[in-house]
Amino acid sequence: MIIAPARRVAGVLSLPGDKSISHRAALLAAVARGTTTISNFLAGADCFSTLSCLQQLGVKVERDGTTARIDGAGLSAPVAPLDCGNSGSTIRMLTGLLASYNFTCELTGDESLRARPMKRIIAPLTAMGAQIASQDGYAPLRLKGCAPLTAINYETPVASAQVKSCVLLAGLGANGRTTVSEKTTTRDHTERMLRWFGVEVVETQTDETHTVSINGPARLTARDLAVPGDVSSAAFFLVAAALLPDSELILPNVGLNPTRAQIVDTLRYLGADITVDDTREEANEPVGTLRARGRDTLAPATPQANILRGATVAQMIDEMPALAVLGTQIEGGLTVRDAAELRVKESDRIATIVRNLRAMGAEVEEYPDGFRVNGPVKLKGALIESYGDHRIAMAFSIAALIADGPSEIVGADCAAVSFPNFFQLLESVAQR
Ligand code: S3P
Repeated sequence: MIIAPARRVAGVLSLPGDKSISHRAALLAAVARGTTTISNFLAGADCFSTLSCLQQLGVKVERDGTTARIDGAGLSAPVAPLDCGNSGSTIRMLTGLLASYNFTCELTGDESLRARPMKRIIAPLTAMGAQIASQDGYAPLRLKGCAPLTAINYETPVASAQVKSCVLLAGLGANGRTTVSEKTTTRDHTERMLRWFGVEVVETQTDETHTVSINGPARLTARDLAVPGDVSSAAFFLVAAALLPDSELILPNVGLNPTRAQIVDTLRYLGADITVDDTREEANEPVGTLRARGRDTLAPATPQANILRGATVAQMIDEMPALAVLGTQIEGGLTVRDAAELRVKESDRIATIVRNLRAMGAEVEEYPDGFRVNGPVKLKGALIESYGDHRIAMAFSIAALIADGPSEIVGADCAAVSFPNFFQLLESVAQR
């Protein structure tokens, strides 16, 4: 894919449904009593992996564009391995859900997924009574479920909503109270979605810990819902608008869950002009309209704004590729630390960000847990490698808009993992 530089971006964009919420809606609908119709379901490769695994588990799934209808008749043993494709959310959450079913199955995925750590879910699920054989902590996972599981009290050693959700979904089929505690409050879509389907969820928040408990065995009741637009997909366009003076983008219906919307506040601290209005709730999730305008220069509010670390980094982990691109244009540049989790995403995102930024002429330093980019620096058009990672392909397509001369994104098709019409929308708003 060749991307030419642009003068500005302008228009109204209807973003695809949130990836995290779409996965959860499908998984919970599959075990709820009755039929759930999900609208604005993300028609992206990752969520298709979840739907096809559910079909292999005997669930009746009908999909028409972005509407998915799921009959929650329960799960039965699959005859072939469950292919989770590129999707960490699918394999980690589905393994949790399946752990309380009395059958054996295999979960696997593509080369990238088979290189991502699974010990983080194997440990708690084993403590609950499931048996999981793996390739030294990597997929394929051979799961022998156990009904009922034993409820546990689990402190997550990594800030991961997938791990938290995995344990909570296993807790649906455990006897008694399952509790998950986390030091950093990660995205809470599972908690909100469980409540939507009628499960009582108890949460406490102290200065140090966020704790979530549910009682099992739990019963879920089907309930229709509409998925909000994905704020992580919005981030690419918010960055484009911030970087191109005279830009004006309107993004209606974007999910603004506080555990996800940190990117909006951070972009503002870094000097971007973004406003939020028309706020409302959709299926227990806050939603609103974002308006982003371009400015001539991006000046952070305070010198500390140029350093991102700690909990804010964990809450914007999916936005780091886009933020790295923005960092090259900010006065004072951008430093990101405490982001070692980036190394185990769809690609080693610290390495792939650094390599691609360097190819475009940026000045970058790589750390074991992050990176530092100098700014503002003029980027040049370059040959960009996506490394099969959707967020790398999209972040560097935005970088291409502000570069001198065209760029080629190799393997750009992988954007469809989370944002099937990304390039179409980009071309619809880019003015040259
Ligand atoms: C997700 C959680 C995050 C995120 C991923 C989706 C989720 O992963 O990076 O894109 O839906 O729970 P981790 O839980 O590994 O941090």
